[in-house]
Amino acid sequence: MDIKTIGVVGAGTMGNGIAQVFAQAGFPVTLVDVAEPMLDRARRAIEKSLARFVEKGTLAPEARDAALARLTMVTSLDRLASADYVVEAIVEHADAKRALFASLDALVKPEAILASNTSSISITLLGAATKRPERVVGMHFMNPVPLMMLVELIRGQATSDDSMEAAASLCRALGKTGVEAADYPGFIANRILLPMLNEAFYAVMEGVGTPEAIDTVMKGAMHHPMGPLTLADFIGLDICLAVLNVLHDGLGDPKYRPCPLLKRMVAAGHLGRKSGRGFYVYA
Ligand SMILES: NC(=O)c1ccc[n+]([C@@H]2O[C@H](COP(=O)([O-])OP(=O)(O)OC[C@H]3O[C@@H](n4cnc5c(N)ncnc54)[C@H](O)[C@@H]3O)[C@@H](O)[C@H]2O)c1
Repeated sequence: MDIKTIGVVGAGTMGNGIAQVFAQAGFPVTLVDVAEPMLDRARRAIEKSLARFVEKGTLAPEARDAALARLTMVTSLDRLASADYVVEAIVEHADAKRALFASLDALVKPEAILASNTSSISITLLGAATKRPERVVGMHFMNPVPLMMLVELIRGQATSDDSMEAAASLCRALGKTGVEAADYPGFIANRILLPMLNEAFYAVMEGVGTPEAIDTVMKGAMHHPMGPLTLADFIGLDICLAVLNVLHDGLGDPKYRPCPLLKRMVAAGHLGRKSGRGFYVYA
């Protein structure tokens, strides 16, 4: 299928980055969010990111203007009726995503492909909320989307080869590398990353080290570019908790049990960077 127009649902941390990279690659993009303030925030984030590329000399000012002109931001899902490919990037809750997939299925043309940027939720489950499970794929971008080159592509039980190829070819159009993962909780990236972050949360809770000490050790000793607690704040602690819950429920092993400190921080609204406070405080 010839994919010309893109829809993105959810304009938070990931959705705005996904909309930006498609617009930069020449696709008209409609970005939808239920919250108008999130769309304003998304526009500012995209403008700031594009400005940084221009400052670095990797993007011409005309290309920045053209990318911005390809972006439409709306609060009505109906505007996606003519989209060829829709990427969902809303909250990491299976019920919310399933409800959205059912609405999208009723709205977009039958040949359109529905992708999810979920970090952990079953693509098969999302596909089953639609009448087109063969056209439902996982397209798991990494944060921050404009800088991270890898995308996990997840094949649900019913996902067709054509849909996988369409997602892979879009990755190439974005200059990114797609790697296929099977539909198990957390796929590849978060199956391996989140248990490490969870262990860092337990280490803070048990007083093994301060967040600064833990991050410094993991950067210096393991050559990680960012410490686990800085990374967790960057991802969003609510997202970390949601993914750990999926791993714990889906795999059944107590080793995935979310750290009680993480649960307490999320309950307090300390979600990391996006709320101004997590393991660190942000201005
Ligand atoms: N944060 C990360 O580092 C990261 C990385 C990869 C994948 N993901 C995944 O991407 C998805 C989005 O994560 P995020 O960090 O951008 O979340 P976020 O909380 O920053 O943003 C979610 C956005 O979705 C909007 N929203 C909620 N319900 C909606 C609906 N029904 N219709 C339209 N908009 C709706 C909210 O208003 C909000 O703007 C999640 O599935 C998450 O697991 C996150």
